[in-house]
Amino acid sequence: MSRSAHPAGPRYADVLPEGHYAAPPADLNALDPKVWSRTVARDEHGVVTLGGIPVTRLAEEFGTPAYFLDETDFRARCRAWRDAFGTDADVFYAGKAFLSRAVVRWLHEEGLNLDVCSAGELATALAAGMPAERIALHGNNKSTEEITRAVEAGVGRIVLDSFQEIVRVAHIAERLGKRQRVQIRITVGVEAHTHEFIATAHEDQKFGLALAGGQAAEGVRRALKLDGLELVGIHSHIGSQIFDTSGFEVAAHRVVGLLAQIRDEHGVELPEIDLGGGLGIAYTSDDDPREPQEIATALREIVTRECAAAGLAVPRISVEPGRAIVGPTAFTLYEVGTVKELPGLRTYVSVDGGMSDNIRTALYDAEYSVALVSRTSAAAPMLSRVVGKHCESGDIVVRDAFLPADLAPGDLLAVPATGAYCRSMASNYNHALRPPVVAVADGAARVIVRRETEEDLLRLDVG
Ligand code: LLP
Repeated sequence: MSRSAHPAGPRYADVLPEGHYAAPPADLNALDPKVWSRTVARDEHGVVTLGGIPVTRLAEEFGTPAYFLDETDFRARCRAWRDAFGTDADVFYAGKAFLSRAVVRWLHEEGLNLDVCSAGELATALAAGMPAERIALHGNNKSTEEITRAVEAGVGRIVLDSFQEIVRVAHIAERLGKRQRVQIRITVGVEAHTHEFIATAHEDQKFGLALAGGQAAEGVRRALKLDGLELVGIHSHIGSQIFDTSGFEVAAHRVVGLLAQIRDEHGVELPEIDLGGGLGIAYTSDDDPREPQEIATALREIVTRECAAAGLAVPRISVEPGRAIVGPTAFTLYEVGTVKELPGLRTYVSVDGGMSDNIRTALYDAEYSVALVSRTSAAAPMLSRVVGKHCESGDIVVRDAFLPADLAPGDLLAVPATGAYCRSMASNYNHALRPPVVAVADGAARVIVRRETEEDLLRLDVG
């Protein structure tokens, strides 16, 4: 890799009003354990290692850009969720965050269940040997084919999302001579935002049946009448990247309220509630995520208390974390291609990937951290914007970052916390080849999703 020198970019203090940006970190070479996966460290040469393997070696062997996934950390996080919720609850990993056959096997081995939301995710789960009864099927518009495949496979639950779907799933199950276990997804009137929740009077989004106005209760009424369905519970998912447990608590309170209403109206006590996913992770040092144990304790307490007050037996609780399990376990490794100083503004650092491997910055204004990982540097901090190689000015990977002013083409940058919703939302924009996912455990690295090739692209293009 080249190490050519280039003029230092503007210093943040030269170009920005004081206090506009947080000050640069005291030590640009430090790796905040909040945002890096557990087996990341720097070796005696200053090179960052994952599971003991230097990133320079990983780049040589697997190329860049690439996602490197810390299998040890992934498994530890699965166990933390499993242990926090105990054997009388279920943890469903939300496959939409990132799914591959290796991941399915790890989940299976660590005792987690799996939430899928498409035929493709279902096929991956089944191909990797996840028992069907440990799979839940989600989605607001599941196709007849998806429902049929799920019922035929014998999935443990289908989460119903509309009046039409209640009838559709019942008919398919009856036609197949089965009685399908289902939950009904409701919207509880809690809208989750990044750092807080706002109770909303009106529901204005596409998922579930609203509790307010009685749609949820009507869905239950209809589902209970249909022979093809075994209604086992109520489902609620309030949003994503949530740091505050109070939104979940309000949701739990309202779901239990509906269980009591169902018992009073139908004489039926539904045995399950699912409180969804959404627990936030640290993308930057400013984020302060909750631990699984904290959320498990809070949910269990409120469900137990509310059930006691309503005279209900405590239902089996399940949750569906995606991001909180896989998000922190991977980083994306890029090579710097160009470093362009815009005098008086900032320095643009172009890497060899971009919005095709991480759309979250462009789509959600998501914030990420970034670090020089192929060496340490004693140079001054330089306010930078890390951008990709796509033909689009919104192709930003990290909007504001301090990088050492001696950054040069050939340096390796890593963006941590890209395990969730990066590879799974990757695209072929500009005919980019989607990067591989390489799992690292116990000093060994192996490709679990290979890099796309031009042949892959051309195979779909039938001329
Ligand atoms: N359960 C249900 C029903 C969901 O809809 C989701 C996420 C989850 C569980 C998992 O949520 P998590 O724990 O991963 O936050 N693409 C967006 C996130 C979309 C989440 C969609 N549903 C992002 O990149 O932030």
